[in-house]
Formats: sequence, C-alpha cells, structure tokens
Amino acid sequence: MSSILITGGAGFIGTNSVLHWRKLQPLDRIVVLDALTYAGNRSNLDALAVDPAFTFVHGDICDGGLLKGLFERYDFQRVVHFAAESHVDRSIVSSEAFVRTNVLGTHALLEAARTAWRASPEGRRFHHISTDEVYGSLGPDDAPFTETTRYDPKSPYAASKAGSDFLARSYAHTYGLPVTISNCSNNYGPYQFPEKLVPLVILNALMGKPLPIYGDGMNVRDWLHVEDHCAAIALVVEKGRDGETYNIGGGQEMPNIELVGLLCDTIDARIVADPALATKFKDCPASNGRRCRDLMTFVPDRPGHDRRYAICADKLFNELGFRARISLADGMARTVDWYIGGEAWWQPIQSGAYRDWMKQQYGTAH
Ligand SMILES: NC(=O)c1ccc[n+]([C@@H]2O[C@H](COP(=O)([O-])OP(=O)(O)OC[C@H]3O[C@@H](n4cnc5c(N)ncnc54)[C@H](O)[C@@H]3O)[C@@H](O)[C@H]2O)c1
Repeated sequence: MSSILITGGAGFIGTNSVLHWRKLQPLDRIVVLDALTYAGNRSNLDALAVDPAFTFVHGDICDGGLLKGLFERYDFQRVVHFAAESHVDRSIVSSEAFVRTNVLGTHALLEAARTAWRASPEGRRFHHISTDEVYGSLGPDDAPFTETTRYDPKSPYAASKAGSDFLARSYAHTYGLPVTISNCSNNYGPYQFPEKLVPLVILNALMGKPLPIYGDGMNVRDWLHVEDHCAAIALVVEKGRDGETYNIGGGQEMPNIELVGLLCDTIDARIVADPALATKFKDCPASNGRRCRDLMTFVPDRPGHDRRYAICADKLFNELGFRARISLADGMARTVDWYIGGEAWWQPIQSGAYRDWMKQQYGTAH
C-alpha cells in the first residue's frame, strides 16, 4: 500500500483529483491537507467519509510543524500539490495571500519533503501543479506555449505561480528532490467555484442575472475538462521523469464570448426540453421564451488581461501517450448538467462572503 499527500484536495481540481486517484488506487492511503479557504469545500469529499484509508487534515501548507508531523506519520511516497490561491481577479485586488500560499506555502512543502525524503528519495514523487499563465500572453498567430517558452507572468497570481515553479525546479536541481511539474490550461467541470467564468455564466444564466464579459470578449483560452486534467496528472505522477515539466492542454481554443454563447445555447436547449426546469429556474430567460444570450453584458476589461493562451501538449503525448479525450461541446454540456442538478452544492455558496465579493467586484450582486 502506498501513501499520497494531496494538498488543496477540497478545491475544484483537487477534489476531482482525489476522487480520480481513489478510483485508480483503491488501497492507497490518501491524506488531503486543505486550509478550507473560501474556495475549499469539505463536503466535496463526503463520498470518502467512511473510507478507512482516507484522512482529511484541516491545515495550512505554510505550517512547517504540521507538515513535518504528517510526513513522519504517513511516510508519503507521493505528494501532489494543488493548494493555492487561484483567482486572478482576487490577486489584482490584493496579492498578499497569493505570495504567502503560492510561494511560501510551496517552499514549506518542498522543505518538508526534502527533509523527510533525504535518506530515501528513490521511488518517490513530488508533483507540483502549475498553470499556463506563467508563460504570459500570445498574439493571434503565435505558436502555442511549450515547456521551454520563457516565463513572462503578467498578473500577481501568475507571478506567484511562476515563483513556486522556480522553487520546485530548484529543489529538483539542487537537492535531487524527485520533482515533476505540470502547467495546465483553463479547466472546467464539476465543483468549480462560481467566481470562475464557466460556473459563473451557468449560474447567472439560470438565475436571469447579467453575464459579465470582460472587454471585447475576444480573449482566447485553451479549455480542458477537469477529468482529462486529472488523468494526465496521474500519468505524470506515475510515469513522468524526475525534474521534468509537462504541459497539459485540451487543444481547444475559443474566445470567451463564443464560450459564453455556447453555454447560453446549451442552457436554452435544456430548459426548452424540460418544463420542470423552466419551473425550477423561473428567472432564466429560456423559461420565459427568451434567450440566455440576451444577458450578455460587457464590463470594463480586467487590468493587464492576457489576450490568448494556447498549450502545446506534444511532450505529454510523445513521452506518455496522453491526449485529452473530452470535446469542448460534450464537456461543457456535461458541466451545464452538473450545475443544473447541483443546487445543493452551489446554493450555500451563492450567499454570504461570496456574494459580498462579487458585489465589490462588479458593483451589483451578480
Ligand atoms: N482552475 C484552473 O483552470 C487551473 C488551471 C491551471 C492550473 N491550476 C492550478 O491548479 C491548482 C488548483 O486550482 P483550483 O482551480 O482547484 O483552485 P481552487 O481555488 O478551487 O482550490 C484551491 C484549494 O487550495 C486550498 N488552499 C488555499 N490556500 C491554502 C493553504 N495555505 N493551505 C492549504 N490549503 C489551501 C483551498 O482551501 C482550496 O481547497 C492551483 O495550484 C492552480 O494554480 C488551475
């Protein structure tokens, strides 16, 4: 039996990854360490509550003493490090928490692994999760980012992730820590906190609220379903080469305004096909003979908004044989269905602190 530490396992990708890992490795000891910030939700992992080989630790990755105790107690063979402050807009308002968690927290985790694994690093793996945003922004005709693209982070979020990537690389180089890194494009799917574009649009459309679109809506992102991301991570953790970086992308670029249109059309079709949904979501335009697209509202652009991200994932394919499988249309339709059926999950989030943040961000309670 092997033992794995997953940090940030109560967040969006972390949750999906914990559930994925449990399917792949039914006997592994899984320890989730999560501070349960606004983005973490303990109940995401309720399915594992009775699993005797699952442990949830409510704690901070910056807490070196806690980390030392966990490494001693569980003798981890694997660490998969998701925990981060992850929302660009929040980093623009205030970046301190980003530097603390993303840079100092990653450092504390690397130190804990280095100390604990010093005598026997063989067969272990520290996998650090990063983002394509560290590479900066592409022009319309530029080639996609590769693993050797020069880092050029543009937001405090991206800069803090770049700092954590450099620390992870340096621990591999200097101390021989068995590190791998993956830089991934925009994820979407179940359990994503509704401040991010896809769930924000779905929930606002269902509730008949404006769909805020930054600038001219022509910012392009490369979308990847979270299930594909989790499958790629598991492969890198098991088969990736020490010290290497792997880009993970869906190869499915789309301007934001088209993506919002796709989500609107999907919701319209669902509501028209099911009168019970029209009764449930009575403020949705589609429940009243109109189109969700009518809710699109252009808002002032995000400062320093990167124009285009695109990932070249050839290394992952050539070395490990992985390609994303879920098409954008299918993945978005599945995601719409998950949020339509997931009111018990998102309803509590739509109140309190999250509502206050959205009000501060957009001026009204979007
Ligand atoms: N979401 C994307 O599209 C995307 C794309 C590429 C890379 N990433 C990276 O993937 C990782 C996960 O992203 P996500 O979207 O799931 O984020 P998220 O914001 O949904 O979840 C982050 C999790 O980390 C926890 N956390 C925050 N600070 C912590 C701390 N100090 N100690 C312990 N736990 C803490 C939170 O409680 C939460 O559960 C991040 O490292 C992010 O940079 C995300």
